[in-house]
Amino acid sequence: MPKNAAPASAPSSVAERAARLRAEINEHNYRYHVLDAPIISDAEFDALLNELREIESRYPELITPDSPTQRVGAPAAEGFAKVRHPQPILSLGNAFDAAGVRAWRERLGKYAEQNLGSLEALGSLDDYVVEPKIDGLTVVLTYENGVFVQGATRGDGLVGEDITANLRTVKSVPLALRKTDVATFPARLSVRGEAFMTIADFERLNEAQLAAGERTFANPRNAAAGALRQLDPSLTAKRPLRLLCYAIVDFVPAEGDGLAPRTQWHTLAYLRKLGFPVTDMARRFDDLEAAIAYCVSYVERRDDLPFEIDGMVIKLNDLTLSQRLGYVGKDPRGAIAFKFPAREATTLLKDVNVTIGRTGNIVPNAVLEPVHVGGITITSATLHNYDDIARKDIRIGDRVIVKRAGDVIPYVAGPLISARTGHERVITPPTECPYCGTSLVRREGEVALYCPNADCPGRLDRAISHFVGSGAMDIEGLGEKIVAQLIEAGLIADVADLYALKKEDLLGLEKFAERKAQKLLEAIEASKRQPLTRLIVGLGIRHVGEMAARALAERFGSLDALIEAASASPETLQDIEGVGPVIAESVSQWARRDSTRALVEKLKRAGVNPKQEVRSMTARAEGPFAGRVFVITGTLSQPREAIAAWIEAQGGKVTDSVSRNTAYLVVGDAPGASKINKARQLGVPMIGEEELKRLGSANQS
Ligand code: IVH
Repeated sequence: MPKNAAPASAPSSVAERAARLRAEINEHNYRYHVLDAPIISDAEFDALLNELREIESRYPELITPDSPTQRVGAPAAEGFAKVRHPQPILSLGNAFDAAGVRAWRERLGKYAEQNLGSLEALGSLDDYVVEPKIDGLTVVLTYENGVFVQGATRGDGLVGEDITANLRTVKSVPLALRKTDVATFPARLSVRGEAFMTIADFERLNEAQLAAGERTFANPRNAAAGALRQLDPSLTAKRPLRLLCYAIVDFVPAEGDGLAPRTQWHTLAYLRKLGFPVTDMARRFDDLEAAIAYCVSYVERRDDLPFEIDGMVIKLNDLTLSQRLGYVGKDPRGAIAFKFPAREATTLLKDVNVTIGRTGNIVPNAVLEPVHVGGITITSATLHNYDDIARKDIRIGDRVIVKRAGDVIPYVAGPLISARTGHERVITPPTECPYCGTSLVRREGEVALYCPNADCPGRLDRAISHFVGSGAMDIEGLGEKIVAQLIEAGLIADVADLYALKKEDLLGLEKFAERKAQKLLEAIEASKRQPLTRLIVGLGIRHVGEMAARALAERFGSLDALIEAASASPETLQDIEGVGPVIAESVSQWARRDSTRALVEKLKRAGVNPKQEVRSMTARAEGPFAGRVFVITGTLSQPREAIAAWIEAQGGKVTDSVSRNTAYLVVGDAPGASKINKARQLGVPMIGEEELKRLGSANQS
């Protein structure tokens, strides 16, 4: 007779149902997180999970360690226990190009011949598996009789930290291995994999951190590391970690069972079968050159992947052979990393100096201890703006992560907080322009500080470089360095001075010989024949790009006529297709400045005064947004003014309130509820910034 105080034990039908639910849920979880091919809806999945939770709460004795309800639940720890790895967790040797890989193969051949005897008896060295080298963190997962019992970090390769509770929360970590007809589970199995975060998840996480007023992460790897090292697993659970597995580090077969797979290719297939997430980018090659070509193909394609890779790994397929080849230091001889050019590096932030952009925007620049990134040495990088510095908590004296990818100018992504000594200095924004002493201002809705002095000498070199650049007067042979040289020598103080340069002036400069000087003077002379549109672009009027410059040139035909009209009646500018209120206001301010008139006079005297036929008002410039009215709400990637100017330059208009005439409501971050509601009411379509840009360019062709 059961005692009253004892909880009722579960009837066998309930126990069976729980077991079934566990298996079913684990299977759906696997389909969703490993195969990325779910067959039920999220709601159906939740219903199954709730049913299991409900049973387990009534009959706690039915809870098993591999129950899907047990992913989160462990309390926060005080620290991590140490875990000795069953085998040293080795690293990898690096090659930086094809030659490096060939040299590795040559060393391998020699070593094998000298130490292992005849090559024929060894099996093939030329049988390779190539895999992506994921830029994440090594983890080691251990299973006993098919159940996940322990997860560890790499640590020093011999001893890692016990992060079992954290890894349980990672959805692609199987809590129980998959029962497939062919597999009997090993008594003990330890698998090595890489934990990482996708780029999209990383960006979303950073946005959420920002919104919560928390520090952002410098890269997906740091974000993943932070997530794994949370003492409270419920925090790890909120971070979207992923996993890909690629090696077996320990294998104790079940009684009467065979050994672990003896090739890398079979290992990947075996791991996949047991339910581990495994890359689908692995390929097998019997020719080193083909393997190298596969690696090289990803140098370009790495940007198309959803996660960061820092290279590819070439592994001998024969694992027995690999083992016999042993290792040098921590690097196994039987594998090599084909490293891609690094796109980031860490270095010391020595100081911050300030440069000033063409339009007066103040840009803080990092002065760095020289560091190699992606094949060049960099000594400075942009810090974007002071808001960004504060948000990332970057300090002078910090070790910082510097990034450089493709055409992007090098920038400081963030500090390495863990490397702080306490001697770092907080960076404070300047209040006055370092070039002219004018008080700096902040324009509404913009993050940058501005020097409002239109004639600030700090703008000069940027302004001149812009004027001579390929989008404007296109003076060949006049790069930024030479512009700086000319300013430094006192030969030019504005763009008009370029036209007064003489050969003797140039010959006095460093690295200027007869021929170079002659060519430059000819290029400057030729620029006088550039069309009016290019001259207007070159003058660098705020918000006036190619499109607006063309519209202005076609409407007025000369600088004089433009200045005349813009200073007398700025409203008329707005009638021009491609010029809205933002551009009109900017042009009229420019036209009314004394310095503008003086410069234009000087240019005219130098012979720079292009004219063109005026198009009648009816022959309107056709912009892709011609005749369409936009309203913007929320924060976009650029200041609202700049976006508005871009829309105007495409022929559109921007207004403040949503009405029946509104073509689109452009919605950014933290949009205003009233505009959204109004748009919904009136059926005005809402688009994001990407869609906006797409519409602009799609309609252009
Ligand atoms: S194999 C003995 N394969 O790269 C086996 N490593 O720089 C050595 N990594 O510590 C590792 N993806 O964290 C291997 N497909 C892959 C990898 C990979 C990423 C990491 C791993 C290792 C580091 C070596």
